[in-house]
Amino acid sequence: MKYQDIAKEKFERLKSKEDVLILSVESSCDETSIALVKNGREVLSNIVSTQIEIHKQFGGVVPEVASRNHIKNISGVLKEALAAAGKTLQDVDAVAVTYGAGLVGALLVGVNFAKTLAYCLKVPLIAVSHVHGHIGANYISHAELKPPFLCLMVSGGHTAIVDVQDYCKFNLLGSTVDDSVGECFDKVARVLGLSYPGGPNIDRLAKLGENKVQFNYKPPLKDSLNFSFSGLKTAVVNFVHNKEQKGEGFSKEDVACSFQELVTEELVGKTMRACAEFGHKKLVVAGGVGANSRLREGLKENCEKNGVELFLPALKFCTDNAAMIGSIAYYYILSGIGLADLKLTAKPTVAI
Ligand code: KG4
Ligand code: ZN
Repeated sequence: MKYQDIAKEKFERLKSKEDVLILSVESSCDETSIALVKNGREVLSNIVSTQIEIHKQFGGVVPEVASRNHIKNISGVLKEALAAAGKTLQDVDAVAVTYGAGLVGALLVGVNFAKTLAYCLKVPLIAVSHVHGHIGANYISHAELKPPFLCLMVSGGHTAIVDVQDYCKFNLLGSTVDDSVGECFDKVARVLGLSYPGGPNIDRLAKLGENKVQFNYKPPLKDSLNFSFSGLKTAVVNFVHNKEQKGEGFSKEDVACSFQELVTEELVGKTMRACAEFGHKKLVVAGGVGANSRLREGLKENCEKNGVELFLPALKFCTDNAAMIGSIAYYYILSGIGLADLKLTAKPTVAI
């Protein structure tokens, strides 16, 4: 029997198998990660090998360097993940992998590694969207969470409001028309002289400042659920350059705090409006910027006020990791989607 026929037969059987152990692989940006996840909710291991220290010297992720380091790290990460879970490759029921969105070279390392594993083990290969994975992070952090709910997706690659109607049924209500909010954090951090990745550094600095800087900026797209962050980014960059050119001092802490406050207002305002318009009483946050302390606080305050139940992923599951891919892959299997063949390749963008 050919691999693809075996995989198809096993994929069908997994839908009714009592326990499903998924080995998941994530390499879309600068984290090489492999996890073992049982039944979509129980993380047996989740090894994340980060390249932050390598990319810091360049001020951001260098795609070619990221790919090379994924190649260097991935076998060791697999060994560690299996050892930490106390499992062998023979225990694995399916291999899941992020095939997009992300850096193509980086993704290809994970995709080819996963294909090889699935083929050798004769188990199904599941192609997972990175964005769906970020939503899946919440199923790990909240055992009781089930769709439907509204999701605020805030990462380095995406900023969106998604109506999650079922585990694998997503309706995009709004998204950024230019920069993602993560890109905006990283750019503002750079202009303030903070190192990569900028988001966590802005978060830390903002705690020491006050919300008193007036940028030349008016929030755009007021009546829409879409976002635009390029205007805010430019306003902060212009403010800083202007001060520097005039030789005037300014407080970086206050700039970080005022910028973060505007981002929070924009994200919280539109998200709460979407909850009301679409009748959602459950809100889920996904993606790296979901680790931002002010955003988490702003969402908590507003959800309480409006009687919306808020679900925030644990901080370690906000940023890229393979456990979130293994979680959503389980629901792909139950929904009968995602089965890939050995022609699977990487995609720089994937529709929600
Ligand atoms: O979801 P993620 O790990 O990767 C993508 O899928 O893009 O998100 C990375 C982004 C980066 O822009 C990083 O600066 C931002 O998440 N980030 C934060 C915080 N932690 C990570 N932004 C603001 N505050 C944070 N605490
Ligand atoms: Zn991500």
